Amino acid sequence: MYWSFIALALVAPSADALLRFACSQLVTERLDPLVNPGVAQSPHLHQVVGGNSFNISMDPNNDPSSLASCTSCTFSEDFSNYWTAVLYFRAQNGSFHRVPQIGNELFEQANGGVTVYYSPPNSGKAKVTAFKKGFRMLVGDTSCRNAACASKYRQLTYTCLQTPGTRTGETKDMPKKPCPAGIMANIRFPTCWDGTNLDSPDHKSHIAYPSSGTFESNGPCPSTHPAQVPQLFYETVWDTRKFNDKSLWPTDGSQPFVWSNGDPTGYGLHGDYVFGWKGDALQKAMDANCNINCPQLKSQQIPAGNKCTKPAIVNENIDGWIDELPGGMPITSS
Ligand SMILES: *[C@@H]1O[C@H](CO)[C@@H](O)[C@H](O)[C@H]1NC(C)=O
Ligand SMILES: *[C@@H]1O[C@H](CO)[C@@H](O)[C@H](O)[C@H]1NC(C)=O
Repeated sequence: MYWSFIALALVAPSADALLRFACSQLVTERLDPLVNPGVAQSPHLHQVVGGNSFNISMDPNNDPSSLASCTSCTFSEDFSNYWTAVLYFRAQNGSFHRVPQIGNELFEQANGGVTVYYSPPNSGKAKVTAFKKGFRMLVGDTSCRNAACASKYRQLTYTCLQTPGTRTGETKDMPKKPCPAGIMANIRFPTCWDGTNLDSPDHKSHIAYPSSGTFESNGPCPSTHPAQVPQLFYETVWDTRKFNDKSLWPTDGSQPFVWSNGDPTGYGLHGDYVFGWKGDALQKAMDANCNINCPQLKSQQIPAGNKCTKPAIVNENIDGWIDELPGGMPITSS
């Protein structure tokens, strides 16, 4: 009895509280309702997950949870959209091929997409303000091509997967050697909010990083951005395995992968978020300090999430061997 009591105490809730769930691919297309609302098409290609109300424009006054009829995420009250750039392989002859995407090892059934995390500050021991209806944000800078530029965004990294479970050795630039189980891109958003603005002209100024330390070390929020919001974190796994043969790689010793925004360095990693949880479901989950599973939330199985897809608004050739990146996006290394 004594020992089982100890064991229970060791796994007391709130130790590592976080929501973690699969969101399968919804659509891959050149739209960006945050940065280029109303524009068909956006300059570069995105892969998008979440609610099927993703659209060319997403008016913040419209609630995705009432417009969408399905979500590709396993928490079925989450009609948010999460999107990133798309990885391409550049062959020696200059042709490009889209790198396929897979679910991470926890969610192998997922048809690619993003593993999404929402972590409350201080593992649920501090007050957390969940994102609200109309909230959106962007992290990273599509134009960054060097470490100094990328250093404004502390936690945008790559993991060179030796096995699907590798979680060490994050780098800020694209891995330089073949990664036997693929490349995982890790996008962690800032965790301090100004408490008022649901968005800002650059989609970034209403959020900030802790003024000292990090989210993980429970660093305090700056006085300008006092509200602690959950840490939103995307993991995307790019299945580079069929491009790992070094004889296919550039003869100058550089690595062959390039983001759809024309970035061969990796420093231009960025992610976008449009909130779309139903009602106060996310706040409830945060307040309940849910850890992975969350009985307070409605959920669906991964195969049901896989079924939620939507056609691209404008069809263009993004697969097979293509002569240029979608949209003719030029490659710039500085
Ligand atoms: C997308 O927006 C158009 C208007 O721009 C609208 O007609 C259409 O119903 C919207 N689609 C979805 C899935 O919300
Ligand atoms: C370019 O290289 C790839 C990979 O070797 C090959 O499959 C493709 O057919 C080539 N494309 C052209 C236009 O030669």
